[in-house]
Amino acid sequence: MNFNLIEKRSLSLLFSVLLAYFLLPIELRAADNKTEIVLPEGEYDGIEVSQPIDFPHNIHVRENKINCLYCHTYARRSKVAGIPPTSKCIGCHKIIATDKPRIQKLQEFWDKGVSPPWKKVHDLPDFVHFTHEVHLKKFIFDPDLPIQKAGEVCGVCHGDLANMTTARKVKPLTMGWCVECHEKNGGPGDCWACHK
Ligand code: HEC
Ligand code: HEC
Ligand code: HEC
Ligand code: HEC
Ligand code: HEC
Repeated sequence: MNFNLIEKRSLSLLFSVLLAYFLLPIELRAADNKTEIVLPEGEYDGIEVSQPIDFPHNIHVRENKINCLYCHTYARRSKVAGIPPTSKCIGCHKIIATDKPRIQKLQEFWDKGVSPPWKKVHDLPDFVHFTHEVHLKKFIFDPDLPIQKAGEVCGVCHGDLANMTTARKVKPLTMGWCVECHEKNGGPGDCWACHK
């Protein structure tokens, strides 16, 4: 048999295996590449929180392909994900869409030296311990995960932000829901893990 042919065949096999692997939905794989992530069930009937500026996630994420982690920078390495500072918005909006009323409102906040008073959408009671870092280390297996994939991981707990304007709470985030996901995926079950 022709050596080149074998090599070509195995290369193309390797390629299709890799391709199939990358096409698998993210929720089927955890960071260690071995465990399947089984999602908890349940939805929350999203209450709209009215924000000082009607910020469009869809325009930024879906149309302009800006990564969640570009704005919510701290999610991967700390407890909180954080809301981006106004300076980050202005970095783009000092030149982009400056004629639009919502951007002019943003500029007014910036000129006054205050941030738009964004209201919390997801808010666990203070007696519950939650950290983004541990979950994202577990579920985002590739540090250079492309935007769609990062969004899917965030979406497990936050829903499909790429198709929302301002964020809405669409997942229950109740104790039963968190515990169900921990039971299915090997998260801690001890009361003290979540109630320090
Ligand atoms: C990386 C660049 C970038 C950053 C950072 C950014 N935006 Fe945008 N934003 C855009 C682009 C591009 C558009 C689409 C503009 C268009 O279609 O004319 C847009 C559109 C908008 C619009 C809709 C404007 C309209 O009425 O059509 C709002 C409101 C807005 N951004 C607010 C913000 C806020 C608030 C922040 C900070 C939290 C922010 N943006 C950060 C690039 C950015
Ligand atoms: C395992 C569930 C889970 C995942 C995955 C998750 N979050 Fe969160 N997120 C939460 C919970 C719970 C809160 C509320 C925390 C609180 O009130 O203490 C929250 C709060 C937030 C907030 C509000 C500010 C803050 O940090 O408290 C932002 C912004 C946020 N998440 C963005 C993201 C982004 C972006 C991703 C993906 C990179 C993500 N989250 C992934 C559960 C999750
Ligand atoms: C251009 C910056 C920008 C990008 C990109 C962006 N966000 Fe946001 N995000 C914001 C701003 C500003 C707010 C506050 C307004 C609101 O609640 O919608 C916010 C709010 C949120 C909240 C609600 C926080 C709370 O109070 O509970 C979540 C969750 C969130 N974003 C997740 C995501 C996810 C997931 C992605 C990617 C799919 C993403 N964001 C992309 C700027 C951004
Ligand atoms: C998608 C499934 C999933 C959801 C939803 C989820 N978790 Fe987890 N969580 C995990 C897994 C898996 C681990 C273990 C991660 C590891 O060991 O690397 C974990 C770890 C933790 C830890 C341990 C952190 C540490 O410091 O070691 C806490 C606390 C926690 N989760 C709280 C929560 C709370 C509170 C909620 C609900 C708001 C929640 N989780 C929702 C899967 C989930
Ligand atoms: C995976 C994380 C997690 C674990 C493990 C966990 N809890 Fe909770 N617990 C929560 C969350 C999240 C809430 C807040 C629920 C809400 O706001 O709806 C909560 C709320 C509570 C409350 C308040 C109930 C109420 O209705 O307001 C009590 C009491 C409680 N937990 C006790 C416990 C005990 C006892 C255990 C161990 C058997 C335990 N929890 C294990 C996440 C957890």
